[in-house]
Amino acid sequence: MVHYDFPPEFLWGAASSATQSEGTVAGDEKAENIWDYWFKTNPEKFYHGVGPSITSDFYQQFEEDIQRMKDINFNSFRTSISWSRLLPDGEHVNPEAVTFYNHVIDRLIDAKIKPIINLFHFDMPMHLQEKGGWENPDIIKAFSYYAEQAFKLFGDRVMMWTTFNEPIVPVEMGYLNTYHYPAVIDMKRAVVVAYHSMLSSAKAIETYRELKLDGEIGIILNLTPSYPKSESEADIKAAHLADLFYNRSFLDPSVLGEYPEELVQLIDEYALLPERIANDAELLASNTVDFLGVNYYQPRRVKAKETTDQLEHITPESFFDYYEDPNRRINPHRGWEIYEKGMYDIAMNIKQNYHNIPWYISENGMGVSGEERFINDDGMIEDDYRIEFYEEHLKWLHLAMQEGANCFGFHTWTFIDNWSWLNAYKNRYGFYRLNLEDQTRHMKKSGLWFKELVKRNGFDT
Ligand code: BG6
Repeated sequence: MVHYDFPPEFLWGAASSATQSEGTVAGDEKAENIWDYWFKTNPEKFYHGVGPSITSDFYQQFEEDIQRMKDINFNSFRTSISWSRLLPDGEHVNPEAVTFYNHVIDRLIDAKIKPIINLFHFDMPMHLQEKGGWENPDIIKAFSYYAEQAFKLFGDRVMMWTTFNEPIVPVEMGYLNTYHYPAVIDMKRAVVVAYHSMLSSAKAIETYRELKLDGEIGIILNLTPSYPKSESEADIKAAHLADLFYNRSFLDPSVLGEYPEELVQLIDEYALLPERIANDAELLASNTVDFLGVNYYQPRRVKAKETTDQLEHITPESFFDYYEDPNRRINPHRGWEIYEKGMYDIAMNIKQNYHNIPWYISENGMGVSGEERFINDDGMIEDDYRIEFYEEHLKWLHLAMQEGANCFGFHTWTFIDNWSWLNAYKNRYGFYRLNLEDQTRHMKKSGLWFKELVKRNGFDT
């Protein structure tokens, strides 16, 4: 038998987000965000036509849900604030939202569950999107104003903040692909969105530090280690470019305080550099993160480009191609590769190239469709596949930590099955099954497993 023990104080828990769990309530002041609008105008894009108003209703059920977290020994939980709920008009604070978030934070603390609060999880308020959203340089001020309100209201009790969850996703899904609103393919606009989001993060960090609160502030990035198809120079270069575009575009400025020179040159070469904001380099350099959250789901398998795209259609994929390794293991429901060692490789990269900054796994999880077929006679979903998925990842994380990785926690995605953007409820990720018909929650076997994992602060295989 092998023991995998984790350090004392290791953070165990799960992540969620406002739009994916809170729901809307009649009479509530929450303003429309891009998801409400996207669903209203394009419901056919959403799995089974289910939009963001159908959630696990955390807004009303948070007390019982926090008890459920406690029941499986969470010592930490991450969720986000809904910008359009806290500041419906972008200016005035919504008192109902303040009451709600205060209650959530206080109940978590009462339950000895450390709240980690994220400011932005894909949900741009619609009135700001109408003015260009992340494309408009005014967004930096608007975001820092929102951040300041949140810090002043909740920063006396929230000791861990993050500015963004996966800031590359709105860029990749909304400006390089047509999945998320505004659904355009335009590399020049994508670069502007990435640049303004990065500066917004740095400005919010500056604002946090000016308030001299006691906690720490970081950012959550989805890191996708890029592996070349072969050892050929061309394939290695392709993997390097994928890493530059999809990881280092946010990782370097967040942790090292500057963009990789090579990325800047490449973007400049194709006349894609955005209009510079005054003092941008100073803002980035002086506002690096205290810690990093890493969401890890899958790697990128990359090879050299076989064809040359037209310049006007340039995207990151103009510089490399993807390939399918015939030996790869795929989660057939989500279509994502399962490659546990990726977590170790990320850890080593942070250790070697990002001054071993403190970090934690802020998301890792397996979305599966039709889990009802695994319900046993006692009504429990026996999700052994999920337990195995987590254990195999944790083994690699454990090894990385033995080798000096500065990792302080592991959060799964997610706690209760939640609404997953375009996929709605197709794939379920939770420790608790959500029955949408009657809003009941039922612990899965993985919930029991997690309870034991935290109790022992590790596991045996
Ligand atoms: C992460 C996001 O990328 O992956 C979550 O932070 C998301 O919001 C999760 O739900 C799982 O992805 P999906 O698309 O299957 O919901």
